[in-house]
Amino acid sequence: MSALPADAAPTLSALLRDGTRDDHTAAESEPFIEHLMSGDLDRAAYADLAAQQLVVYEALEEASAAVRDDARGGTLVFDELTRVPVIEQDLAFLYGPAWREEIRILPAAHEYAARIREVGSSLPHYAAHAYTRYLGDLSGGQIVRRMMERHYGLDGAGLAFYSFPEIPKSKVFKDVYRERLDGLRLDGAEVDAVLAEARLAFRLNRAVFAALAQVHRP
Ligand code: HEM
Repeated sequence: MSALPADAAPTLSALLRDGTRDDHTAAESEPFIEHLMSGDLDRAAYADLAAQQLVVYEALEEASAAVRDDARGGTLVFDELTRVPVIEQDLAFLYGPAWREEIRILPAAHEYAARIREVGSSLPHYAAHAYTRYLGDLSGGQIVRRMMERHYGLDGAGLAFYSFPEIPKSKVFKDVYRERLDGLRLDGAEVDAVLAEARLAFRLNRAVFAALAQVHRP
């Protein structure tokens, strides 16, 4: 017998997973991602991806700071997810000490960051962007890390972004994160906003990958 009545409303986390399934397949099938993961690119391509992620996470983590004080949203903010300092560490390794002058941010990454800045103080929109990135980093990100080690000779240095030392069991943490999403007490319109924004977040990620594919070819 199911634990839930058959007509129970699906949880937000289930709606997000189901509602972005096709977007996820499309994102992981982007040529830049496929080539990077297959070892057909080089360390510079990986470094360029890390640089684009810097501006996206700067915007996301500014939004986290704003949402932290939200009566409902504060439960979604976890210090152990914070990525900006580790991205900076990775960039210092990958580009050297002058990394701030060396990196070049693509318009697609600026547009993604601008969208987060535009809507990120609204809880449904924040939830969508945080879900898309952090649950992804804790999931596929771990596969990315292994492939970068294997193909591009990285051995931890340069890959701090994919390491969550304070989260030893990502499955347990992801379940907690999903419970927090499900406990946000959003109304119907807000749930619709989360789902639409999560799909947009995947599209913004794909646009960054498409732009990177123009620069890095096998
Ligand atoms: C290298 C490409 C990728 C691979 C191999 C990959 C792989 C995976 C896998 C295996 C899971 C399931 C983990 C689980 O159920 O515990 C997952 C979940 C997820 N991925 Fe990816 N992924 C990739 C790219 C992306 C990208 C580009 C995004 C978005 C920016 C993303 C966002 C997510 C999210 C949000 C989840 C959680 C789904 C849920 O349970 O609600 N992934 N990924």
